Amino acid sequence: MSTILVTGGAGYIGSHTVIELVKAGYDPIIFDNFCNSKPAVLARINKICGKNIPFVVGDIRIREQLEAVFNNFKIDGVIHFAGLKAVGESVQKPLEYYDNNVNGSRMLLSVMKQYNCKNFIFSSSATVYGEPDVVPITEQSPVKRANCPYGQTKVDVEYMGEELQKADPEFSIVLLRYFNPVGAHKSGLIGEDPKGIPNNLMPYLTQVAVGKLKELSIFGNDYPTKDGTCIRDYIHVVDLALGHVKALDHCLNKAGVHIYNLGTGVGYSVLDMVNAFSKAIGYELPHKFAARRPGDVVQCYADPKKAKEELGWEAKLNLDDMTADSYNWQKNNPNGYED
Ligand code: NAD
Ligand code: UD1
Repeated sequence: MSTILVTGGAGYIGSHTVIELVKAGYDPIIFDNFCNSKPAVLARINKICGKNIPFVVGDIRIREQLEAVFNNFKIDGVIHFAGLKAVGESVQKPLEYYDNNVNGSRMLLSVMKQYNCKNFIFSSSATVYGEPDVVPITEQSPVKRANCPYGQTKVDVEYMGEELQKADPEFSIVLLRYFNPVGAHKSGLIGEDPKGIPNNLMPYLTQVAVGKLKELSIFGNDYPTKDGTCIRDYIHVVDLALGHVKALDHCLNKAGVHIYNLGTGVGYSVLDMVNAFSKAIGYELPHKFAARRPGDVVQCYADPKKAKEELGWEAKLNLDDMTADSYNWQKNNPNGYED
């Protein structure tokens, strides 16, 4: 079976994907510098997989560290999760974001080309669509200039992959545009472990639920939506991980640029999420309304038809699974991987 280098494989989405790769018969190698993850995740991944997954501590910006991996393993393809992802931080530190996300991706692609490894799957984001003109969003919707450095790094790496594919048509470049990943592995052993106060909705909800945070502030209740709060396409991280497996199955050694939305196609409002979470915990989750968050899009949800038709993939887990699994992870690991 094929050997797959998973950059950022110790992170939230990477760790779940490694498990699904093993289940599908692939041989993943984790490559991570732990700048936003903890080595403790590795033992948990091994426990779930029932075997030790090779891992390398390294930085995608350092050529020699990447070359060492390619010298030691015959790598058939790369799934590239490694990157920085905090929108607010990217506004404060744009150069760090361009360095890590854009230069890091450039270095990775350069080393892949050097070793004749031409299968690349990239973690892109629905953020490349900006404020969409029409929902649901298809892959044909225009990619827009992003409103923050983080988002722009996704746009830039997408273009870099496309330009490289034009120049070297043997490359298979897969751009997976994730909508809003939430949830955790059923075992409760791995999940999302944000540093400090979470910026994203689901980890904030779970931390209120376990009493680490007092109440959720809902950013804006005067949007032109059914209940005035923003709409997003939340997708269970295990479904998302399976999307990567299907993308590999379909696109490995299939030269070209392949772009897929990975979402459920269903939009939920922030209030829908609060209600679903309240149902999961059995009482009303403390919340209040607050000012809009600058940069938020009103509604964003996928048309996932292309991935279904071409990859044979569709999200199976529903909102109850997402809330229950997120809560289960947080309850079992109130301090994330610290314990
Ligand atoms: P994460 O921070 O949990 O995982 C990223 C991993 O990459 C971390 O383990 C980090 O230590 C590692 N890393 C970062 N820079 C590195 C470098 N220079 N060298 C080696 N390792 C490095 O994030 P995640 O939520 O798992 O996201 C994975 C990818 O998916 C990211 O590229 C992110 O931008 C993208 N994405 C995430 C979301 C989301 O909501 N989580 C949505 C859309 C796209
Ligand atoms: C955010 C990023 C986006 C990134 C995505 C995944 C911004 C402006 N956008 O998107 O670029 O790709 O995360 O990492 O940061 N909410 C609250 N209270 C909270 C937290 C969130 O009401 O404490 C609301 C938000 O206003 C939004 C929804 O919940 O309407 C989802 O927020 P979030 O989880 O941050 O995801 P996105 O806004 O989709």
